[in-house]
Amino acid sequence: MIIVKLGGSLLTSKNNEFSLRRDVLRRVARELKEGIDGSAIIVHGGGSFGHPLAEKYSLHEGFKSRNQIEGFVLTRLAMQSFNSEVVASLVEVGLPAISLATSSIFITENKYINSYSRNIVEGFLRLGTFPVLYGDVVLDRAMGFCILSGDRIISKLTQEFKPDRIILATDVDGIFTASPKLSSNAELIEEINPENYREILSLLTPEKGDVTGGMLGKLEELVSMANLGYESIIVNALSEGRLKKVLLGEKVKGSVIRGGNYY
Ligand code: IPE
Repeated sequence: MIIVKLGGSLLTSKNNEFSLRRDVLRRVARELKEGIDGSAIIVHGGGSFGHPLAEKYSLHEGFKSRNQIEGFVLTRLAMQSFNSEVVASLVEVGLPAISLATSSIFITENKYINSYSRNIVEGFLRLGTFPVLYGDVVLDRAMGFCILSGDRIISKLTQEFKPDRIILATDVDGIFTASPKLSSNAELIEEINPENYREILSLLTPEKGDVTGGMLGKLEELVSMANLGYESIIVNALSEGRLKKVLLGEKVKGSVIRGGNYY
């Protein structure tokens, strides 16, 4: 079994609210179809359907005032329509994708998954379908609600379903020494391991406009999986064919997070 996360910044344009990159989504769906052999769980991020609304209504801070309910409802609606587009594209290429509403499957406590409906995810996997989940607003036992990132979802599903491989498809080549979008001196870090992890952490800063911490938040989740022995790889799926290649087991440009003792 494989777990694939499709980053929100890959499938949407982060600068314009609710802007799906339809051409990228179609190609990514085809590459998934041609590259996946066996079962899969697919998780996607929020991109410009999730982050701007979540930030506007401070949804990542939990319930503070009734005004946020409007933002909560709008975010759920936006994520649901984004998810419908993703699932429709996957089905169109012949993948047995099934949408599972994150907010009906997971409940968090202080942003960490506290309970989830294992039997639903497991049941759809057993049936031979590919569950598709996504970062979204969810109920939180302590905060009322919170944002649950796609990366935190894959971390939980990894512990539960022990995938053979974990692939993170994004819009950059991997983890860099500085933001590749801001600095031309940024160098790709091809391997993250217990020896260089602390140093890499000190290079990364939370991203503006990303309520789940950007690459820093992502790395923290990936390292929590690596610490349990699960290796993952971040690849740039804007580069045509790269996602398919990595799915087929070929060596591609990217950042590998090696399994090991991180803490
Ligand atoms: C964020 O999920 C979900 C919302 C903001 C509602 P992710 O953190 O997984 O999304 P991306 O991949 O960074 O866009």
